[in-house]
Amino acid sequence: MTMATRDHFKSRIGFILAASGSAVGLGNIWKFPFEVGAGGGAAFVMTYLFFAFTLCFPVMVAEIAIGRKTQLNPVGAIKSLGHKRWTFLGYLGVASGFLILSFYTVVAGWALGYFVEMLLGNFDIGNQFDAFTKDWIKMGLYSLLFMSGTAFVVSNGISGGIERAARILMPTLVVFVLALVIYALTLPNAMEGIKYYLQPDFSKITGDIVYKALGQAFFSLSLGMGALITYGSYVSRETNIVRAAAVITVTDVSIAFLAGLMMFPFVAYMTQGDPVGIREVSGGPGFIFITLPGIFESLGHSLGMVIGTAFFLLLSFAAFTSTISLLEVPTAYMIDELKVERKAATWAVAGTIYLIGIPSMLSVGAVESLKNFITLPGPGTMNFMDFVGLIANDTFLPLGGLLISVFTAYVWKKSNFNKEIRVGSHQSKTGFLEVYVDIAISYICPIILGIITLVTVFRNFFGIDIIGGLF
Ligand code: PHE
Repeated sequence: MTMATRDHFKSRIGFILAASGSAVGLGNIWKFPFEVGAGGGAAFVMTYLFFAFTLCFPVMVAEIAIGRKTQLNPVGAIKSLGHKRWTFLGYLGVASGFLILSFYTVVAGWALGYFVEMLLGNFDIGNQFDAFTKDWIKMGLYSLLFMSGTAFVVSNGISGGIERAARILMPTLVVFVLALVIYALTLPNAMEGIKYYLQPDFSKITGDIVYKALGQAFFSLSLGMGALITYGSYVSRETNIVRAAAVITVTDVSIAFLAGLMMFPFVAYMTQGDPVGIREVSGGPGFIFITLPGIFESLGHSLGMVIGTAFFLLLSFAAFTSTISLLEVPTAYMIDELKVERKAATWAVAGTIYLIGIPSMLSVGAVESLKNFITLPGPGTMNFMDFVGLIANDTFLPLGGLLISVFTAYVWKKSNFNKEIRVGSHQSKTGFLEVYVDIAISYICPIILGIITLVTVFRNFFGIDIIGGLF
């Protein structure tokens, strides 16, 4: 395919909105607050922020640069820049995209379903969560709807589909988040929630939290699987990559931070400010879907309905711009490498991933054998959906990030990487961020990501603690 026929983002801001849309998702609004709740509050937040800026930001620059240089999907991009032997890295990305999207649409389907329930004033849905997740026809339909919407946008291409959707959804999402934060801060005991959220207790930082915070940072920034290689391949040569990556990182982290500012006051309101209660209530994946509807109800019927509807609409929007980017990765692979036409490629990939997601959908409640799917030495017994999450989010993404940094610095070579970064930067001198990215990609990312990946793989899958009592 020639460059002239490749669709592109029409503007710099269009790219930034689409990439931020990819980053801001269930990871920020659903996962981040409960990871914070379970991970001891502010200690987790600090670790997460540290990783996002020191490790993830440089990997993001590398991904966008690889994409823009090659104008290709992750498989084609890696193949064209390096040794053939490294092509597996592109395939690892496409596989991660497949796996993540397969369960992501299930949770996104819940968000959409809850939006409808809230609109109907059914606050009891939190208590019916078990029944809801067992009702596979209903769940199947909601995630089908979600996947079809995603495929519709992706089938319309970059400027006419992805960029256009992001331009509408992202500003709306920011308005919703801000409005909900302002409202939450006016609730009784809001400040107790904020304290739990923001006062760090560093004794809480354990090896497990370090690993969770890293996985969360990669997942939340959509890194390690080539989503940003793919989006980068549609970026114009006028764009300053380092600056764009900085804006995307700050946007994503800010929205996660705001989601916490919105959620913890709600929890503290419910537990009347009791810190032990705050931890118990907020620290699990069921928090948003089980506890939150009840909290909305206690605000009074009409007000609760407005706040609840707004919240689940916000969650659905956030998820939507992320599923779009997840679907674009394998779709771009089919278009570039297998020469399939965009519409056919999109619907074929979407249909396949929907089918792959069915076991995840059934594993939350409907099918017992999928519910207690596997017992691993580290995390214990988990359902199919959590298992896929463990493989794809928590293992493949940091591993992908590690390999991308090694690939960029030592296979593609730093001089080529730096040359690509300078295109569009319009700066005569190399700035601080450029210098940092250079050092991080060659040393900091490979070393730290290497250690954490090794430690966690041994711990989770083999039950071996290779650093012993270090944490
Ligand atoms: N960043 C998205 C979120 O926070 C998830 C995602 C991961 C999207 C990887 C694309 C690629 O929800």
